[in-house]
Amino acid sequence: MAYHPGMATVSRRDVLAVSAACAACACCGLSAEAEDVAADQFAAEQLIADTKPPFDAGAIADFSQAKVYEQFARKGKLLIINKDQRVFASSSICPHKSCVVKLRGDKLVCPCHGSAFDDVGTVLSGPAKESLLRFAVSVKDGRLNVDRTKSFAERDW
Ligand code: FES
Repeated sequence: MAYHPGMATVSRRDVLAVSAACAACACCGLSAEAEDVAADQFAAEQLIADTKPPFDAGAIADFSQAKVYEQFARKGKLLIINKDQRVFASSSICPHKSCVVKLRGDKLVCPCHGSAFDDVGTVLSGPAKESLLRFAVSVKDGRLNVDRTKSFAERDW
């Protein structure tokens, strides 16, 4: 099963296929250096990463509307985001000090110290200096699977 850093496309029939751009890229794994940086910067997140097999977020058809889905924000530590018919799995954990971000209007805002991110997790204002991590996703039998053991910083989106 191939995993991709938050890039999948929802068709009109709610059938999800990995986007052509993602299928053609070589971004499905971090370099050793990138992994080290991510581990250092987001050690707290690594502690909560699910080391079990991929998390089944549900039927891909359930994420067909363009919006941020927050149902896994606390317990699952992730957000499912549909933006322009691409489905992303983003961390819900603020890279500053690991609070859970919340959707406020069209922004994701951290309630602890006020960092703000746009609706795909790009940092807009600090104190957080990094955007939200994304997790690898795949679709199998119409189900969206998220592998939280594979995370991607913005430079690898
Ligand atoms: Fe999010 Fe500090 S923990 S801004």
